[in-house]
Amino acid sequence: MALVNEHYLKLAAGYLFPEIGRRVNDFVKSHPGKKVIRMGIGDVTQPLAPAVIKAFHEGVDEMARKETFKGYGPEQGYEFLREAIAEHAFRSRGASVSAEDIFVSDGSKCDTGNIQEIFGNENRIAICDPVYPVYADTTVMSGKTGKIGKNGYYEGIIYLPLTAGNHFVPEFPSQVPDLIFLCYPNNPTGAVASLEELKKWVDYALEHKSILFFDAAYEAFIRDETIPHSIYEIENAEKVAIEFRSFSKTAGFTGTRLAYTVIPSELMAYDKAGNAVQVKKLWNRRHTTKFNGVSYPVQKAAAAVYTDQGKKEVQATINYYMENATLIRERLSHCGYTVYGGENAPYIWVKTKDNMPSWEFFNLLLHKAHVVGTPGSGFGPSGEGYFRFSAFADRDNVLEAMERIENL
Ligand code: MLT
Repeated sequence: MALVNEHYLKLAAGYLFPEIGRRVNDFVKSHPGKKVIRMGIGDVTQPLAPAVIKAFHEGVDEMARKETFKGYGPEQGYEFLREAIAEHAFRSRGASVSAEDIFVSDGSKCDTGNIQEIFGNENRIAICDPVYPVYADTTVMSGKTGKIGKNGYYEGIIYLPLTAGNHFVPEFPSQVPDLIFLCYPNNPTGAVASLEELKKWVDYALEHKSILFFDAAYEAFIRDETIPHSIYEIENAEKVAIEFRSFSKTAGFTGTRLAYTVIPSELMAYDKAGNAVQVKKLWNRRHTTKFNGVSYPVQKAAAAVYTDQGKKEVQATINYYMENATLIRERLSHCGYTVYGGENAPYIWVKTKDNMPSWEFFNLLLHKAHVVGTPGSGFGPSGEGYFRFSAFADRDNVLEAMERIENL
């Protein structure tokens, strides 16, 4: 008799975004001809930058010629890309990251989930609430939790509430976690963490021999010069932190697929006898066993993001999305909503009026304004009464959506 992995049976519901997609598709089917504006999932709408496309084509052409054809590449990513990342994403900001510590992959969603596999199930995991659902769901799948309670919290997870009161940056919990997920700029609240706030967490992890899983997928949207883009801008972070980065939002790669994870050589975890084990070594073992690398043309396209022309073009698209974010912030504030985020992140976190439950607001917007956003409670119990708008839509759609909400 085949037995299932029973940890999967503990999962509360379907994954958030397909669930939203299902509800929207039902609406579209029963209301043919209605134009629905999607500002739910953070999926980009603008095409790849011309410099990226040019390099992508060149990569494909190389694959078409016998002399330049490539089979399996290095599982960790081609040297040319890892070097470009180390230089332009880190060293240029004073964060010393070696190309040797970078693992190129096909997505941060996969990496933030898969990373759990190299850590024992005895670890106590802390995640923020609200949170990018992947961290919570993959913690459950990996067997590190008990059942979900009536309050929406899984037994065994240490929840770090993100509230307007703490500016959506968590305080230390009463129980000390071993593994701590942090995401800044934050998904879903759009908040950022200052250098001092991140330093506190690095120091905390050093003191307790904990490890920070730092998701910096939205760093490219930071406008405020004082906000760190990488955890490695904080002294000693290389001893306690893994960083996840993605080209999805930064360079429009949601459909092209490329991300990377940084695991510094200095980062150690421990076996039961207390011996230090290099985390990078275990991840390398996993990566080389389960992954054969990202396709060559995609890596070539990604490297073009760091050329002078690529940087200019990619920045122009980021600016476009951030202008959307400003528009959404301003128009919703004008309608009397309390809004957060959207200044250094592509997400705007909105308090519903009169504490309307998040899914009720979702239904109201869908049925009356034909606008889709993401219910805050889908990101965790502390998201109840909030709603997330993504700034990745076309400008015309953003303007139309705001007008429809104003007329509600
Ligand atoms: C989101 O909307 O939170 C993201 O698009 C999800 C993701 O990056 O997987």
